[in-house]
Amino acid sequence: MKKIVSGIYYVGVNDYETDLFEGLWPLPEGVSYNSYIVKGEKTAVIDTVKIHFVDEFLKKVEEVTPFEEIDYIILNHLEPDHSSSLVRLLEKTPNAKIYCSKKAQGMVESLYRITEKVHVVEEGETLNLGDRELVFYMDPLVHWPETMVTYDSREQVLFSCDAFGSYKALDVGIFDDEVNPDDYYEETIRYFSNIVAKYVKYVKKAMEKLSGLPIKIIAPAHGLIWRKDPGRIIKLYEDISERKANPSVVIIWGSMYGNTKQVVNHVVEGVKEAGVEVTVLDFSRHDLSYLLKESWKNKGIILGFPTYDGGPFLKTSYYLHLMKRKNLRDRIVGFFGSSMWSGRALKQAADDLRELDWEIVEPLLEFKGAPTEELLKHAKELGKTIAEKAKQ
Ligand SMILES: Cc1cc2nc3c(=O)[nH]c(=O)nc-3n(C[C@H](O)[C@H](O)[C@H](O)COP(=O)(O)O)c2cc1C
Ligand SMILES: [Fe+2]
Ligand SMILES: [Fe+2]
Repeated sequence: MKKIVSGIYYVGVNDYETDLFEGLWPLPEGVSYNSYIVKGEKTAVIDTVKIHFVDEFLKKVEEVTPFEEIDYIILNHLEPDHSSSLVRLLEKTPNAKIYCSKKAQGMVESLYRITEKVHVVEEGETLNLGDRELVFYMDPLVHWPETMVTYDSREQVLFSCDAFGSYKALDVGIFDDEVNPDDYYEETIRYFSNIVAKYVKYVKKAMEKLSGLPIKIIAPAHGLIWRKDPGRIIKLYEDISERKANPSVVIIWGSMYGNTKQVVNHVVEGVKEAGVEVTVLDFSRHDLSYLLKESWKNKGIILGFPTYDGGPFLKTSYYLHLMKRKNLRDRIVGFFGSSMWSGRALKQAADDLRELDWEIVEPLLEFKGAPTEELLKHAKELGKTIAEKAKQ
C-alpha cells in the first residue's frame, strides 16, 4: 500500500508469474495490476486485480480501510485482469455498491453472476465522497466497449484504466520520478500497439473529450503513475492516436539458409547513408509483440523474407495478417527476399498489404538463390529510398 496524495492510495499488485499477457504478449519484466482507494468521508475502491493475486490485494486494501467502510467499488473496465477479484472483494464488503457503465453491468452479470447493488453511471455523473468528488467519463473501446475513466476533481487525478498503461511491473517505485521512466515509456508503446491500437479512432475521441480536464496525476491500471510529467505520456497518446511515426526505419528479416540474411546489412547501410535511425529485428527470434511495436513506431518498414511453400515465409505471413488486424496505416514499405522456383512471395505480400494505405516502394527485390552484387546495390538503394521518404 502506498499513498499517492491526500486520501488516495495505491493497492495494486505485481505479476511476475504470467508469461504471456492475454495468452499472447510476452511479459519479460512482468506487469502490474493497479488498483486504487479514494478515501473521503465515503470510501471507493477503483478497479481490482487479477484473481491470482487476490489475497495480496485484499491485504493491501485492509491496510488502508476496514472492509465495512468501503462504500463503492468502481469498475472502469471488466477485462478480468482488473475485475476478477470482484467477487472476493464483495464477500468482505457488505456495504459496497458497484459503480460501472451500462455495458459493464451486463458483463458483471455474465462474468460474475452479480445483479444486485449495481449502479449504472452516466457520462459526466459525479459521486460525492464528502470532502471530494469523483466524476465518470465513458471512453468506449479504450479498451473494451464498456470502458470508462474516473476523475478525482479535487486532486486532479485521472484513473485512466488501460489508457496510458504499460507492461513492466512496478518493482522499484510506482511513480515516474522514482524510476527511469524511459523503460516504461517504451513498454507503454508496446502495450498500446499490442492491446489498444486496433481502437485508435476511439483513443482519439477519448483524448479530445478529456483534453479540457486539468490533470496533475495520471493513474493508469498498468504501469507507472505519472505525477512528475503527466504531459509526456499525454503527448505520447496524442501522437499515437494520430498514428504519428518517428522519421526512422525498421528492418524485419527472416531467413532459413542465409540468402535473404546476406542482404540485410546492405539495406542497413543505405538507411544510414540517408542519416536515418534504423532498428533491425528478426521474424523468427523476436516476438510479434515487438515487431508490432516497432512497426507502430517507425515510418519506414523494410521486410526481408524468402518464399516458403509458395508464399511468404510463415512468420512473415502472420506479421502481415497482424498489420491488417491492428489496422496500422500510413507506412512506407519495401521488400527483399530469396526464392528458388516459384518465387512471388514478395508480390503476394505487397498485394496483401494493398488494403492498408501503405506506400509500397518498387521494385520488389526478389532474387533466385544467393544475392548478386547487382542485387546488393539495389538493396542499399532501397534502404536509402525508404529512409529518405521516412524523413519527409
Ligand atoms: C520449406 C521450404 C519451402 C520452400 N518453398 C519454396 C517455394 O514455394 N517457392 C520457391 O521459389 N522457393 C521455395 N523454397 C526455396 C527458398 O525460397 C530458397 O531456398 C531461398 O533461397 C531461401 O532463402 P534463405 O536462405 O534466405 O532462407 C523453399 C525452401 C524451403 C526450405
Ligand atoms: Fe483491457
Ligand atoms: Fe488492462
